[in-house]
Amino acid sequence: MMTNNINPCCFLLSVLFLFMCLSLESHVCFAVDTISFNQSLSGNQTIVSSDGVFELGFFSPGNSSNYYIGMWFKQVSQLTTVWVANREEPVRDVYSSVLKIFDGNLVLFNESQVPIWSTDVSSGSGSGSGSAISSSVVAVLLDNGNLVLQDGLDSSTILWQSFDHPTDTWLPGSKFRFNKRTNQSQLLTSWKSYDDPAPGLFSLEIDPVENNQFVSVWNRSQPYWTTGTWDQQTMSFSFVPEMRMVTVSSLAYNFSYVSEENESYFIYYYHNSSTITKFSMDVSGQIKDMLWLEGIEQWILFFSKPRQQCGVYAFCGAFGSCNDTSLSSCTCLSGFQPTSRRNWDQQVYSGGCVRKAELQCSDSSVGAGREDRFSESRFTIFPTNPQDTMDVSSVECKSTCLKNCSCTAYSFENNRCLIWIGDLLNLQHLGEDDTAGKVLYVKLAASEIDSESSPTNKKRVIVVAIAVPIGLLLLGLMIFIIMKCRRRTIVDTERDNGSLAAFEYRDLEKATKNFSEKLGEGGFGSVFKGTLPHGSIIAVKKLDSINQGEKQFRSEVSTIGKINHLNLVRLQGFCAKGSRKLLVYDFVSKGSLDRHLFHGTDSEPQPLDWKTRYRIALGVARGLAYLHENCVDSIIHCDIKPENILLDVENCPKLSDFGLAKLLGREFSRVLTTMRGTVGYLAPEWISGVAITTKVDVYSFGMMLLELVSGTRNFEPSNDKEGTFFPVWAARQVSEGVNVLKLLDSRLNGNANLEEVSRICKVACWCIQDTEIHRPSMSQVVQILEGFSDVGLPPMPRFLQDISDHRSTYFSCLSSNCYSN
Ligand SMILES: *[C@@H]1O[C@H](CO)[C@@H](O)[C@H](O)[C@H]1NC(C)=O
Ligand SMILES: *[C@@H]1O[C@H](CO)[C@@H](O)[C@H](O)[C@H]1NC(C)=O
Ligand SMILES: *[C@@H]1O[C@H](CO)[C@@H](O)[C@H](O)[C@H]1NC(C)=O
Ligand SMILES: *[C@@H]1O[C@H](CO)[C@@H](O)[C@H](O)[C@H]1NC(C)=O
Ligand SMILES: *[C@@H]1O[C@H](CO)[C@@H](O)[C@H](O)[C@H]1NC(C)=O
Ligand SMILES: *[C@@H]1O[C@H](CO)[C@@H](O)[C@H](O)[C@H]1NC(C)=O
Ligand SMILES: *[C@@H]1O[C@H](CO)[C@@H](O)[C@H](O)[C@H]1NC(C)=O
Ligand SMILES: *[C@@H]1O[C@H](CO)[C@@H](O)[C@H](O)[C@H]1NC(C)=O
Ligand SMILES: *[C@@H]1O[C@H](CO)[C@@H](O)[C@H](O)[C@H]1NC(C)=O
Ligand SMILES: *[C@@H]1O[C@H](CO)[C@@H](O)[C@H](O)[C@H]1NC(C)=O
Ligand SMILES: *[C@@H]1O[C@H](CO)[C@@H](O)[C@H](O)[C@H]1NC(C)=O
Repeated sequence: MMTNNINPCCFLLSVLFLFMCLSLESHVCFAVDTISFNQSLSGNQTIVSSDGVFELGFFSPGNSSNYYIGMWFKQVSQLTTVWVANREEPVRDVYSSVLKIFDGNLVLFNESQVPIWSTDVSSGSGSGSGSAISSSVVAVLLDNGNLVLQDGLDSSTILWQSFDHPTDTWLPGSKFRFNKRTNQSQLLTSWKSYDDPAPGLFSLEIDPVENNQFVSVWNRSQPYWTTGTWDQQTMSFSFVPEMRMVTVSSLAYNFSYVSEENESYFIYYYHNSSTITKFSMDVSGQIKDMLWLEGIEQWILFFSKPRQQCGVYAFCGAFGSCNDTSLSSCTCLSGFQPTSRRNWDQQVYSGGCVRKAELQCSDSSVGAGREDRFSESRFTIFPTNPQDTMDVSSVECKSTCLKNCSCTAYSFENNRCLIWIGDLLNLQHLGEDDTAGKVLYVKLAASEIDSESSPTNKKRVIVVAIAVPIGLLLLGLMIFIIMKCRRRTIVDTERDNGSLAAFEYRDLEKATKNFSEKLGEGGFGSVFKGTLPHGSIIAVKKLDSINQGEKQFRSEVSTIGKINHLNLVRLQGFCAKGSRKLLVYDFVSKGSLDRHLFHGTDSEPQPLDWKTRYRIALGVARGLAYLHENCVDSIIHCDIKPENILLDVENCPKLSDFGLAKLLGREFSRVLTTMRGTVGYLAPEWISGVAITTKVDVYSFGMMLLELVSGTRNFEPSNDKEGTFFPVWAARQVSEGVNVLKLLDSRLNGNANLEEVSRICKVACWCIQDTEIHRPSMSQVVQILEGFSDVGLPPMPRFLQDISDHRSTYFSCLSSNCYSN
């Protein structure tokens, strides 16, 4: 049972305080944590837990004009709700609504004094003694965020507690229970939208079959993600390897699973009780673990599961299709439109799409001969629950679907006919390649397909015929105006910022064709290709999570702008307009190293040769040494990995994304790096939480060197040499001084300078030592790689060994499933 940690003394004190307050102004009075028989809550009054962490009162979410009773973090400047009482029954006027103790319960009365929410504790002692109890019942908001209804005289009797009725958030110290007798799990249920706390379609529950794992479920029926089973030994879930990184050190929290006769539960605590976090089932259907960073006043995403938005089942609703590479994840299938344009615009997609034109099947008024047709499109993931109709030809398959009014789509592949009845859910595009994926034939009204002959379209043609000349005229006028404006802005920027240009947002919008060509996506935001009017090609980075003021941003950016080195991508300029923050870089033509190193591209299918690899290693080392040692303030990159190394036409490496860690604050980047799952490159001190120095870059650089040698990812199981994973195996080979050519990319067929391979491997191994002081500085690395100084045999790094010992947990996740999920 939940123990109550209110001590009677404290309770007496708060009652005393209450009495003292009664003589004061009413809203001053509510700096207490208790609602009692005589003290109700209305208007803007709130109660606050005794240590000042949680606050309870009326709130209005987002842009809504509805009010709810909720609990939020008092110290967090953005309203962040962790619990809501009346999720489905809002009130509109908080001054005539009231939350009070009534008949032994905590009850919310709306404007017309009708009870709309109650703790619903049956007054077991009957109506006789009921009034005696009900006058002594109080509701107390505890320091852990638990709202407890108790008998005022006996604080050990909990009549009701909010921990048993969570909404979308699971707070530390609260048990997430599974009742083995009723086979019922407690639930976290997403909000409907950011404006509406009513229960949405997504929930998190304990798996009824295997009680030691969680599952995310759509509409209480369709599971779409699981944590994997809990492993007491590694203190983590098999599909949440991030947890192991945390518990391996003394850092953050302890998490436990308890299985008893009648129930099982999960519970977790933070070692540092001032840590403010929010673990919740988000509106997006993803589990999100967020951390509040006081310094920058931001919530930082620690992890989200599934990682990709499209991994959430039916996120785009019926007849919607999900595309993870697109900014707005959802589009309607052709011939369909959003059920509610308003919701769609607010990025609430679960309502899905409806037909623009009804099928003939369901509408007999449509004339004969206008039979329904099929539109063909490719998807990488098909809707769930098809009906399998074997042994028919493709013609029969089509006609089966055509004849049946409830059939909405069919596919025919490998002599297998699949038809779908009713709504099409969970369609996905991979986004990159339209020829990948399987063909789905979606049934549409004939008018949606052969549009030429349709009468409505004749009208359209006429309208277009008139509109085009007018449009052209307007366009000409616009171009004229824009050209004039552009001339002015360019002059402005030159005057403003010396070498760094301050771009107008609309110019960048145009240069990137409205941000249509995405080059990549990092933790800080997406990068788009663009062309400036005079023809030079740029890469525009749209920064996601910067709340910095414009002035501060400008000054930080100008610091980055002063950095100039052959091996660093040059910052050309920036744009800062309100919340929009963009950085404009030189475009580096051959893209990132990972593409060339691990895959080979279409234009260059050959693996990078050894000479090139060595040059890349040296170039990156020089760029990093410059950042660490030659800048006015030493700059830690914080995210060295092949994705952040770009190659120009001559394969000269250029580091990207530097200085951003500084821009965003050190803490911020720490969490970002963890969240981005680049665990393979993270130095142990990231995880133990001690202060970060330039040596974290040295560590990541070392890991990257090993990949440069082997031509494969360190964490890929294919590199699983002799039962250990590659970096450990490599480190062992190097420390034993054996033939390092064994480590070399097999595609190079041994075509490499043996001494260079040996040198790189030794440096790499020194770089990945556990202790910072054992790692060389980047300028030492440069010297060694240049051949100006030598280095001895490195010892075996222990941290890696530790990861390696628990590799099964690691690999099951790092390889494929849970990460692509
Ligand atoms: C509540 O108020 C009534 C009068 O308004 C008073 O008689 C009673 O003692 C009060 N009870 C408590 C618990 O303060
Ligand atoms: C609460 O409302 C009262 C009057 O309705 C107002 O005087 C007071 O300033 C408000 N307090 C806060 C914290 O908004
Ligand atoms: C509220 O509305 C404004 C303007 O329509 C919009 O920019 C903002 O994102 C909305 N906020 C939320 C939380 O929906
Ligand atoms: C109060 O709640 C009742 C029951 O839900 C409802 O019928 C009534 O309209 C509500 N009053 C107001 C003013 O909304
Ligand atoms: C609980 O549910 C699981 C899965 O639905 C089922 O296998 C099990 O038999 C149920 N147990 C009880 C006691 O109902
Ligand atoms: C969710 O399931 C219920 C029945 O359990 C069904 O009535 C409802 O239509 C479903 N919602 C959606 C969006 O499919
Ligand atoms: C977790 O931490 C809490 C509070 O610090 C402690 O009471 C509990 O025993 C710890 N549990 C485990 C399994 O270490
Ligand atoms: C489990 O429930 C049964 C029946 O209600 C009860 O007798 C037993 O004591 C409970 N066990 C525990 C550990 O609470
Ligand atoms: C707990 O965290 C707070 C804020 O993050 C920090 O100031 C404090 O030093 C930490 N306490 C311990 C014991 O680590
Ligand atoms: C359409 O197909 C479904 C599934 O095969 C079947 O249950 C239903 O009866 C069919 N409806 C008609 C009108 O044939
Ligand atoms: C997915 O989105 C990307 C980026 O917006 C776009 O280029 C691509 O064509 C989309 N894929 C499909 C199949 O719509």
